[in-house]
Amino acid sequence: MASLIEIRNMCKIYNPGENEVRALDHVSLSIGENEFVAIIGHSGSGKSTLMNMLGCLDVPTSGIYLLHGSDVSLLSDDELSDIRNQEIGFIFQGFNLIANLTAFENVELPLIYRGLSKKERTTLAKEALRKVGLENRMDHKPSEMSGGQQQRVAIARAIAQAPPVILADEPTGNLDSHSTKEIMNILKTLHSEGRTVIIITHDNDIAANANRIVHIEDGKITSDSSNNGNVNRDDIAREIRNGSGSREYDSNYDDEYKEDEEEPYDANEIELTDASAENDFDLKPEEDNNIDLHLNGDN
Ligand SMILES: Nc1ncnc2c1ncn2[C@@H]1O[C@H](COP(=O)(O)OP(=O)(O)OP(=O)(O)O)[C@@H](O)[C@H]1O
Ligand SMILES: [Mg+2]
Repeated sequence: MASLIEIRNMCKIYNPGENEVRALDHVSLSIGENEFVAIIGHSGSGKSTLMNMLGCLDVPTSGIYLLHGSDVSLLSDDELSDIRNQEIGFIFQGFNLIANLTAFENVELPLIYRGLSKKERTTLAKEALRKVGLENRMDHKPSEMSGGQQQRVAIARAIAQAPPVILADEPTGNLDSHSTKEIMNILKTLHSEGRTVIIITHDNDIAANANRIVHIEDGKITSDSSNNGNVNRDDIAREIRNGSGSREYDSNYDDEYKEDEEEPYDANEIELTDASAENDFDLKPEEDNNIDLHLNGDN
């Protein structure tokens, strides 16, 4: 698997001096194309700091970040901004939509920054909203939509330009279990269609959706399931549910997710599409997947 992201010995120190906080402490991590990685850790462990580094939103105090083999620290601000626009789709816990713009306009905005024509923007924005099942909500403002719908708008915004990497920081943190399931299904589908998906969470059950789980504590990586050989997803889920998770075990959760576990999603059976292929990834949920992205716009 080609190494898409390579972090070596990265440190991030806030407020250097007496009150310094070592938010990342010699972190080394490499992530290949088309991986689905969960970065998990307690509050304050350094997850968002790591996400900010991965997304080129902040610069490390020391260490190396190679993205597609090139050293990010050598890039100019303009080049970094290009990378953010073209390579990475961001999804945040708080959706980060612009309140006075419609769903369509929110998705269109980054495409304006990219200098696309109105015609291209309209095509891409409509297509992205259709993919997350919101074709009937294009003219709605965020305040007129549920949290789950707003997060789907944010996902549409993130995927409109088909970036190879999706970086999601607690994307379901503000959502109920139904919307959480929808969002996770969308992320799984994006992964199955060739994207690299990196999700940051403090929730073990959310992390169990990923194929690889990286634990971070006090700014250090304390475990990485990719070092444990060929662990399958169910084993990972079992392992972390039995482990010392931050989330209290909720017996209802299993019932809610039962269908998920029975769905034919299997990381080993997914036919990978070439991530560098043209932007033809279409969010077609698997047959038994109980979110229908195309019909779900009205709820
Ligand atoms: N801008 C900042 N200035 C100073 N300290 C910071 C800053 N941002 C984060 N920190 C500190 O760095 C550490 C890691 O913070 P970070 O936001 O990465 O944690 P997190 O794992 O994302 O937590 P949460 O789950 O609560 O979002 C914390 O101790 C935090 O207080
Ligand atoms: Mg955080």
